[in-house]
Amino acid sequence: MRVLIIGSLAGELGKAAKIAVARGARLEQADDIRTALVILRGNAGVQLVLCELHHDIAALVRSLAHERIVVSVVACGLERDSEQALQAVRDGAQDFLPLPPDPELIAAMLAAAAGESHAMIARDPVMLATLRRAEQVARAQASVLISGESGTGKEVIARHIHRRSMRSTGPFIAVNCAAIPDHLLESELFGHEKGAFSGAVARRIGKFEAAQQGTLLLDEISEMDVRLQAKLLRAIQEREIDRLGGSVPVKLDVRILATTNRDLAAEAAAGRFRSDLYFRLNVIGLTLPPLRDRREDIVPLAEHYARHYADVNGLPYRQLSDDAGARLLRHDWPGNVRELENLMHRAVLLAEGATISAAILEMPSEPTTPAQAPVPVAETAPAIGGDHAVCSLVGRRMEDVEQALIIETLNHTLGNRTHAATMLGISIRALRNKLRDYVEQGLPVPPPQAGHWAA
Ligand SMILES: Nc1ncnc2c1ncn2[C@@H]1O[C@H](COP(=O)(O)OP(=O)(O)OP(=O)(O)O)[C@@H](O)[C@H]1O
Ligand SMILES: [Mg+2]
Repeated sequence: MRVLIIGSLAGELGKAAKIAVARGARLEQADDIRTALVILRGNAGVQLVLCELHHDIAALVRSLAHERIVVSVVACGLERDSEQALQAVRDGAQDFLPLPPDPELIAAMLAAAAGESHAMIARDPVMLATLRRAEQVARAQASVLISGESGTGKEVIARHIHRRSMRSTGPFIAVNCAAIPDHLLESELFGHEKGAFSGAVARRIGKFEAAQQGTLLLDEISEMDVRLQAKLLRAIQEREIDRLGGSVPVKLDVRILATTNRDLAAEAAAGRFRSDLYFRLNVIGLTLPPLRDRREDIVPLAEHYARHYADVNGLPYRQLSDDAGARLLRHDWPGNVRELENLMHRAVLLAEGATISAAILEMPSEPTTPAQAPVPVAETAPAIGGDHAVCSLVGRRMEDVEQALIIETLNHTLGNRTHAATMLGISIRALRNKLRDYVEQGLPVPPPQAGHWAA
């Protein structure tokens, strides 16, 4: 993972840089924004920018947007500069890192920017079989399409495939096609030449080139715009790309992995996704089972997160009590592993006493599948009059209720925007636009999480 530091390495920021290096980051350094932009244009591998507060962060963010460079910018400064920190976030920084640096915080930021996942847990025979298949196909060069519901671990398995492939010493580059607006995604993937569009002040290398000799993960590929799908198909077929505004094609040596949480075959059949591209991507198909179909993974995963979040938060490790385990096993996990992870994170923070008890697990209502508990239509329909949640909403403005729902859902997903959008039944783009409005109105918005920073 490459990190670009904007500022002097002599002081507190230098300590932060040392911690990042100790955690495996590779450093680039620039004394000012102008130099930083030169580095960013030539190096699509930079995933995180740490920028001292006194630099013009607004100008940096503007230039990045103008030149269609997508990277996480974190402002760094002394804790007492909270006014400036707030301003930096208003100016478009994704986060604030207080100095002197806290090693754990830096580790968390690196992990978030890299979309890094923790160890891969698999105990259930269904999941073990999936893992075996992933390891088998890892050795091949063919594209792999990884399907599965949101939160099942598609990105985790994609990284696993890369690690077990012959390209493991090469880069692993992930692009979230849903989180990056269409007009930015093209240059993000293919790069551009100087003058390709009004903001293109210099050549920029795209993610395809950054992934040379390695693996490119096209995350949430179903969200890709049809026009871009055509360009992607050409890149895969010809094994070369043209930078935007470029005249000389660039040869590619990149393995493509893609993920989708929609049924891409059905999307293709319905004409919403190019069939020829679907076939190119789906040379090998891998489907991750939802968590409810691999129940033997539930408790091991929960224990893994109990340990992990105790570590991260400097809290004592507490085992799951038997009744807590039983409760987890009764739930249906519509949000899959991510839902379990978020629930355990909260439980670790709330736990008191010797174990994590069932009482503190903040579960949504116990599963009531339609087969077990049919709800007559007549009873569901008058919810407008009968449901207390709806009653308490009467008298409130639609806009306020919507806003509360969005923020609460984001809190529930611990800032994960993809998952929040799925739960809300809206597109990631729609969610991003709403959040941008809230930020402009000065409303507090939960900070984004791993790989979902492009608000
Ligand atoms: N087998 C696993 N072992 C440990 N952690 C896992 C496993 N599978 C998923 N996770 C964790 O669950 C979370 C969701 O995983 P991931 O991001 O890979 O899911 P996804 O299928 O890509 O979801 P989405 O469609 O919402 O992007 C991550 O924090 C990941 O670390
Ligand atoms: Mg994902």
